[in-house]
Amino acid sequence: MSTTTSHDPSSSSTPPKILISPSSAQAFIESVLTGNGVPAANATIIAKALVLADLRGVDTHGMNRIPSYMERIRQGVLDPKAQPELKQITPVVAQIDGKNSFGFLGASLGMKSCIEAAKIYGIGMASIKHSNHFGMAAWIVQQALDAGLMSLVFTNSSPALPVWGGKEKLMGVSPIACGAPGAEKDFILDMAPSVAARGKIYKALRRGEKIPSDWALDKEGNRTEDPARALEGVMLPMGGPKGSALSVMMDVFSGVLSGSAFAGGVAGPYDATRAADVGHFLVAIRPDLFLDGGVEKFRERMGILYQRVVGCEKMAGVERIWFPGEIEMDAAEERRKSGIPYVQAEVEALNKEAEKVGVPHIQVMS
Ligand SMILES: NC(=O)c1ccc[n+]([C@@H]2O[C@H](COP(=O)([O-])OP(=O)(O)OC[C@H]3O[C@@H](n4cnc5c(N)ncnc54)[C@H](O)[C@@H]3O)[C@@H](O)[C@H]2O)c1
Repeated sequence: MSTTTSHDPSSSSTPPKILISPSSAQAFIESVLTGNGVPAANATIIAKALVLADLRGVDTHGMNRIPSYMERIRQGVLDPKAQPELKQITPVVAQIDGKNSFGFLGASLGMKSCIEAAKIYGIGMASIKHSNHFGMAAWIVQQALDAGLMSLVFTNSSPALPVWGGKEKLMGVSPIACGAPGAEKDFILDMAPSVAARGKIYKALRRGEKIPSDWALDKEGNRTEDPARALEGVMLPMGGPKGSALSVMMDVFSGVLSGSAFAGGVAGPYDATRAADVGHFLVAIRPDLFLDGGVEKFRERMGILYQRVVGCEKMAGVERIWFPGEIEMDAAEERRKSGIPYVQAEVEALNKEAEKVGVPHIQVMS
């Protein structure tokens, strides 16, 4: 059994080609976004989320998404200038109309309102409608962690996965994420309900790599290692009916409840023909609600859980047991120092975006 994920930098079959510092990535993304009409403060929020994905080794949901996001702006299906609007429903519940702005903005505003409510009332909840792809869910979990809070982060997404027993793309490969402050390491679970996130197939396509045969079926229903054929077919749910049920759950909480598209109605981030109408659902919770001893007691108990998990007896062949989110946290620590690796084709695609709006190419580390 492997103890690494496929986005663990050390497990990548493609050697890092070009290193870019997080600050250069941040500045570059901001310049391309503002060049496409995104207000500067919003560009900063979006860039931070994309850079954090790349730092955490979730390269499928980082800066390489810029060309597809910009194409949506050019085609007029995502509004670069829109500002999400918040309506307070009850003291702990907010509704946000994303106004077809970047998903990062509605989600950031939503989690901000959850945090404010949780600090006063113990819990805060936000529903976001008419939004777009928000990238890696863990950046929203991190927003709550930075405020010392636990969180749940749900979204729906475009059809990619059949329901159990079906053969058509219907549900999204919609991530489920949650977090809790820890002692030495915070807990962050961030997972798609498929065997692998669809972004990993797009990444393999970009990099000319094969995919494992258990990730997807081609359009004829056969297993495939070819990312292009996989994208024409369907993603396979993790754990059979359980993965497909989790995907339905994301649609109930993010789509049906919010008033956004649902039941296969969301448009994908690579489909520049219509507005995406994604929905999200967010909750922030104070970790000291039930314990004598408050947050410190909670963190102490998380420390015990962490030690018990990573210190448990290992299966044969396993070198190390990781806490959820720990692989990504270690990757981020390393990449903050060494830079983020990209391949040549990715840098070229990014530089083309810079040329389109007349801003400088991305700065690479020497
Ligand atoms: N916005 C969207 O519509 C969308 C859609 C799909 C996926 N995504 C994003 O794609 C990313 C990748 O999703 P994924 O399902 O491929 O993630 P993954 O399978 O790489 O990891 C899932 C979870 O398992 C944990 N994990 C992985 N290997 C582990 C190990 N060996 N030991 C202990 N824990 C381990 C990770 O920390 C993580 O919390 C996520 O960030 C997700 O938010 C976004």
